[in-house]
Amino acid sequence: MNKEREFPNWEQLYQDKAVESMPWFSPDLDPDLAQALTRLNLSSGTVLDLGTGPGTQAIALAKRGFQVTATDLSDTAVKQAANKAKAEGLNIAFQQDDILNSQLDQQFDFVWDRGCFHVFPSERRQDYVQVIDRLIKSNGYLFLKCFSHLQPGEEGPYRFTPEDIGQIFSNYFNVYAIEETVYQGTLDPLPQALFCILQK
Ligand SMILES: C[S@@+](CC[C@H](N)C(=O)[O-])C[C@H]1O[C@@H](n2cnc3c(N)ncnc32)[C@H](O)[C@@H]1O
Repeated sequence: MNKEREFPNWEQLYQDKAVESMPWFSPDLDPDLAQALTRLNLSSGTVLDLGTGPGTQAIALAKRGFQVTATDLSDTAVKQAANKAKAEGLNIAFQQDDILNSQLDQQFDFVWDRGCFHVFPSERRQDYVQVIDRLIKSNGYLFLKCFSHLQPGEEGPYRFTPEDIGQIFSNYFNVYAIEETVYQGTLDPLPQALFCILQK
């Protein structure tokens, strides 16, 4: 948990590889998020898809009628995703942005983080929480998908227990729900994950 993990150079990765080959690539809206939107009766409003990568989540949310902003550290990822959305006639605000030093000045009804938070080492997590707090309206939600402590191995994303998540976010957010699930993508078997609903 405390050992520093290695991650790819994100910009280089998106320049070199097709998004469809990436472990997190999933063409559809994440089923845990879809279920949460139904549970909370959310069908409109503003959303930030941070660390959007291939942009599939942003596109699926825009198709559902949300007003979507989608950001990523990688300029190439953002440009490719923006082209895809444009080809589908969707109006999504794509922007290159480092979430740990975010230039966004808007507040959103909810933020969707599918796989970005879990790449940050422990010493950056409070920076992340503070930025997210600034970006969410009062009573708004952070939907967070990250690797679970049940996922074996020491490689790749950091793993979390529900208690870890509660502690990390406790100064700014209430835990609405945390469930054990899987991270849909191209890996077999699918990695064990947590789906967290945090309310400001
Ligand atoms: C595991 S991928 C998930 C991509 C996408 N959310 C999905 O589910 O298909 C993590 C993403 O976070 C992005 N990322 C990494 N560090 C970031 C940062 N500091 N700010 C914004 N995005 C970042 C990466 O470029 C990558 O696209």
